[in-house]
Amino acid sequence: MKAIAVIPGKANSLHFEDAPDPVPEAGEVLVRVLRVGLCGTDAEINAALYGEAPAGSSYLILGHENFGVVESVGSGVEGFKPGDTVVASVRRPCTECFNCQHGRADLCTSGHYTERGIKGRHGYMAERYAESPEFLFKIDKAIREIGVLLEPMTIVEKGVAESLQIQKRLPSTPRTAVVFGAGPVGLLGAAALRVRDLDTIVVSMEPETDIRAEIAKQMGCRYHSVASSPLDKLATQIPAPDIILECTGSSAVGFAAMQMLAADGILCLLSVTGGDKTELVHAAEINRDLVLRNNVVFGSVNASPTHYRLAIRAMKAAEKKWPGALGKLITTRLPWTDFAKWFDRQVSGIKTTLEIGS
Ligand code: BGC
Repeated sequence: MKAIAVIPGKANSLHFEDAPDPVPEAGEVLVRVLRVGLCGTDAEINAALYGEAPAGSSYLILGHENFGVVESVGSGVEGFKPGDTVVASVRRPCTECFNCQHGRADLCTSGHYTERGIKGRHGYMAERYAESPEFLFKIDKAIREIGVLLEPMTIVEKGVAESLQIQKRLPSTPRTAVVFGAGPVGLLGAAALRVRDLDTIVVSMEPETDIRAEIAKQMGCRYHSVASSPLDKLATQIPAPDIILECTGSSAVGFAAMQMLAADGILCLLSVTGGDKTELVHAAEINRDLVLRNNVVFGSVNASPTHYRLAIRAMKAAEKKWPGALGKLITTRLPWTDFAKWFDRQVSGIKTTLEIGS
């Protein structure tokens, strides 16, 4: 079958590979891929910043944001039938750590987990894949058109769910939130906060006239553009929030955000920042403020099956409350043969998908 792959460690090695057809084992499901979403992780793997081929393979099939249709089910598979639309999760457990053995590969402590399309396992930019049903999530009609956004939605659902869980330490309930970044993760994060009725401000570079601001406002957020005013002025322009989600991909914003929290507020860092950028920060001041304000800063990666279920619920709630808002995140749909256009930065917009099958 045709697949889009990289040679890990070799920059700009993205190419069409003639990969073997997947042969599902008994108890597995064969899925035809309809589309994949492209994200910064894919670009960074193609830039050779990370990415690892499966053992014994010289290439890695890319792609982790996925949406497909069940083609056939192996013997003993329950709960799935041909024609069901599904999304597969990304991370697979290691064989040694306690958390992985207890369904929380997203909290793996050994570092020996694998991730489809990222680390040691082929991804979804292929005509088909075979998978165990425990890693598949059914997508019903209500969110089929935006099903490809489920994987990034799980990332923010985990961030928001864990923020709220940590804040159970407080007698009060968090009410206000700021999201840094109005890319797909930022806007999905805003949706996750708004379906929980938090008063949310989205802060981003784009002007008020941008489609990102329109989507944020449709979901009942306020939108604050930092196009014309620098980040260090922001604290005087918006109220200090109880929860911040950092979704810009910039470590500098992460550190700036630490100083914008309300007392007892919490900062969730969601950007996997590639590269080795250094930054001068006011370490004593930041440390002092975090201590004196009882702040919590935590990082969150990947998602558990619970977060997939929460994300499906949140996407359905968002579709009902603000019909079409999440769909506007998909600004470009490319035939998959045109993948280079996105990787060569010829495509702007919010989320680009590669259309693989029908
Ligand atoms: C993916 C996650 C993954 C993380 C680290 C992100 O782009 O959405 O599923 O765990 O990268 O590899």
